[in-house]
Amino acid sequence: MPTQNPVNIAPAEGKLGVLIPGIGAVSTTFIAGVEAVKRGLGQPVGSLTQMATIRLGKRTDGRSPYIKDFVPLAGLNDLVFGGWDIYPDTAYEAATNAKVLETGLLEQIKEPLQSIKPMAAVFEQEYVRRIHGPNVKTNGSKMDKAEALMADIANFRKANNCSRLVMIWCGSTEVFHRPTAVHQSMSKFEEGLRKSDPEIAPSQIYAYAALKSGVPFANGAPNLTHDFPALLDLSRDGGVPICGKDFKTGQTFMKTLLAPGFKARMLGMHGWFSTNILGNRDGEVLEDPGSFKSKEETKLSVLEQILQPHLYPDLYKDLYHAVRINYYPPRGDAKEGWDNIDIFGWLGYPMQIKIDFLCRDSILAAPLVLDLILFMDLAQRAGLKGIQEWLSFYFKAPMTAPGLYPEHDIFIQLMKLKNTLRWMRGEDLITHLGLEYYD
Ligand SMILES: NC(=O)c1ccc[n+]([C@@H]2O[C@H](COP(=O)([O-])OP(=O)(O)OC[C@H]3O[C@@H](n4cnc5c(N)ncnc54)[C@H](O)[C@@H]3O)[C@@H](O)[C@H]2O)c1
Repeated sequence: MPTQNPVNIAPAEGKLGVLIPGIGAVSTTFIAGVEAVKRGLGQPVGSLTQMATIRLGKRTDGRSPYIKDFVPLAGLNDLVFGGWDIYPDTAYEAATNAKVLETGLLEQIKEPLQSIKPMAAVFEQEYVRRIHGPNVKTNGSKMDKAEALMADIANFRKANNCSRLVMIWCGSTEVFHRPTAVHQSMSKFEEGLRKSDPEIAPSQIYAYAALKSGVPFANGAPNLTHDFPALLDLSRDGGVPICGKDFKTGQTFMKTLLAPGFKARMLGMHGWFSTNILGNRDGEVLEDPGSFKSKEETKLSVLEQILQPHLYPDLYKDLYHAVRINYYPPRGDAKEGWDNIDIFGWLGYPMQIKIDFLCRDSILAAPLVLDLILFMDLAQRAGLKGIQEWLSFYFKAPMTAPGLYPEHDIFIQLMKLKNTLRWMRGEDLITHLGLEYYD
């Protein structure tokens, strides 16, 4: 029973267009997965929007609907997919090359995958150095390219009769850059676009085009894309939701499960060494030191934020944290991540934990893409705008309001997400106080 005024949420009527820069391993695994689930060929394992329930009211109330029945989300049958890539391969060919899903499954969904042909990309070799493709927009200034993307967006909307759109960056990781003068305001950014300022990255041009078109934008990679004043202002002033960045899968997912546990028990930590091997195209791009630096920044920030060494110097001030990624082609998408964790307990006695996670990168990322699309569309229909911190759950480096540190603890992130849904529907927020059971 709602006890407060629910948020006014427009119904999820009509088609929801999903626009993806980067038709690679993650995006094709996601699209193929949706097509497979629609045909009863598999289950959407890992997706909160499809599989999770949400408790409402007291533990004794017995109210735990599915999230998808509690808030009005777009249905899988209403999703339409499109995207851009520097390679002209259809989603079927890209999925086949990515070798994440078995060919037997891909054959059964060949038709919808083959119909997804990437539009010409906005691309710059300076930003992603190890790949080269012919399917790129070559004419004009960066502003001309932004306008060409806006035309792509408008054409896609019309051709597919979409009532709403969401864009999610699943492109390669761009090289590390910090915001510069051109990123500080909309007028400077637009002037920079007209002058083709080299500090404006391709992903930023997609984000600009999306936000200008009123389309929510999520960033699945660690690059600087919409996390600077110009685009933050555009998203807030234009009433468009944004979120990012860098999908929290594999090793960082494990880190944000374990580190809050050590801290909760006030166990100390001397060091955490993480190393990975992976052999997909993402791994190849990350061999470039500039792209790796983007990834390293988001991966390293997590422990510091969770463990708060400034509050617990005795436990964490000397923590040594290192992350390595090695490109190793034989493994393809089947990454292996090793962690060595040196912790200490009572009276400083040392202990070690070793993790060997044989994971599948794109299998872990695909359900996150689905949830982010459906929740970003919900956010827009609920009138939310700017940074959607309640979606931190999905990211290695959650975006927050300037000056606010991000919350990395996955259990706090989950509570924040579910409380946001309760708030939308006018249900009591769950504080876990629970004194009323003992009155
Ligand atoms: N798989 C995971 O678990 C995971 C986790 C976190 C982040 N990510 C990030 O997600 C992104 C996608 O990963 P992936 O494994 O699918 O990589 P991928 O290399 O298979 O696919 C990326 C695609 O983006 C295309 N691309 C690059 N620049 C582009 C541009 N400017 N416009 C349009 N297309 C462009 C490439 O041609 C490629 O096809 C990467 O940045 C990766 O770091 C993945």
